Amino acid sequence: MLRAVLCLALERALGFGTGEISSELLNYVSNPIARHTACRVAANSPTVCLLEGSVTTNELMDYYILTLPEEGLLYETSPNFRSFGSAPLMAPEPIAFYQLPFLVTDPLHQVVYVPPENKWPTQSAWTSFTYAVDAPVGTERAMVRSEPGLVVLTNPDGQISGSDFSLANSADGWTMSGQLEVVDGVPSQGLRHMSHSWGGLSNYISGVDEVQSLDFATGIDLAKWYFEASQGFCKKELAVAYGGYLRFRVRGEYGNFLELNDPLDWVTIECESCDSGQGARIVRFIDETLRWVGDETYAEFYLHENGRWSYDPLNSAAQFTYATSCQIAAILTNVSRIAILGDFTRGGEGIGLDDVTVVSTGTAEQPSYPLECQQGCICRHNPAMVHPTCC
Ligand SMILES: *[C@@H]1O[C@H](CO)[C@@H](O)[C@H](O)[C@H]1NC(C)=O
Repeated sequence: MLRAVLCLALERALGFGTGEISSELLNYVSNPIARHTACRVAANSPTVCLLEGSVTTNELMDYYILTLPEEGLLYETSPNFRSFGSAPLMAPEPIAFYQLPFLVTDPLHQVVYVPPENKWPTQSAWTSFTYAVDAPVGTERAMVRSEPGLVVLTNPDGQISGSDFSLANSADGWTMSGQLEVVDGVPSQGLRHMSHSWGGLSNYISGVDEVQSLDFATGIDLAKWYFEASQGFCKKELAVAYGGYLRFRVRGEYGNFLELNDPLDWVTIECESCDSGQGARIVRFIDETLRWVGDETYAEFYLHENGRWSYDPLNSAAQFTYATSCQIAAILTNVSRIAILGDFTRGGEGIGLDDVTVVSTGTAEQPSYPLECQQGCICRHNPAMVHPTCC
């Protein structure tokens, strides 16, 4: 079992099963695939977004909008745009709820998203919607509808989730975990919001370790403390972060960064429902390619199989191995926890954290969620089954 899960489980709207019931697993459609993708959208800017299906036969597919974005409007492309690439980009009327599932008529399977009027982008994605593709499959060429694919309408910088802690006295839903929560029976002040600038940090959160419970044999902290990401980082839209980055600004306030804990599990990402419900966790450890000694740093973690993520075997007798693309992708599909290590040193330390963000790759690099991972992995509990929740 995974440790305490701090992000609340949000209601998942993708509409496929959790993997508990084998008949649901058997019903999973792995061909064709409506690929998860992201589209960057600026304020007050109608934006053309490309839907991308995949079918092994390379047949033409029909694209259907399954759900509409919760805010803003979705349109078909205009005849003008289809012929000349010119404005207005969108058809006169938005796609309406009663028209769902809506067959996309643009032969290049593009649609236009118009964000809510006069609203500034936030640190997070605007919203998302789902679509499916229909294609003839098999010798009988029966039309098969794919599972829903997710289209995330990110902010103009590609951000899906983010916290810049700019609101006064607000940790933006972040918390701390670990040994420091109680000091002499009194809850420690734990996480504090700092309403000033300090180097590149401005309006940031600060975590302070006031207790040390060292294991005297090794001098390693027995229970380390972590910054725990808010619920806004535990949403299905994170799926399209594969190939993108998790970034944050960090600076040691005090502490002896010459005496470091070991190992240093700097970033942990967990998915409770992954691996057929057993749970899965990836960890980016400090290693020879990644160091931090308390100086102000804008740290960047590549959400990709080449990002040197370790896959936790969840078995203390087994060794960590590097996570595969589908292990990482599966975890990003249903993240239940993101934690950033605070407890770097063997003594006490104070750490400032700011500008945490999860960004997707640019529109031109989309879809970057690996196709084979959306097709599913062989299930450990039944090798005859293939399903994404088995990744
Ligand atoms: C996502 O995880 C939650 C538990 O954290 C689970 O209840 C839910 O069914 C999962 N969703 C999918 C689509 O697997």
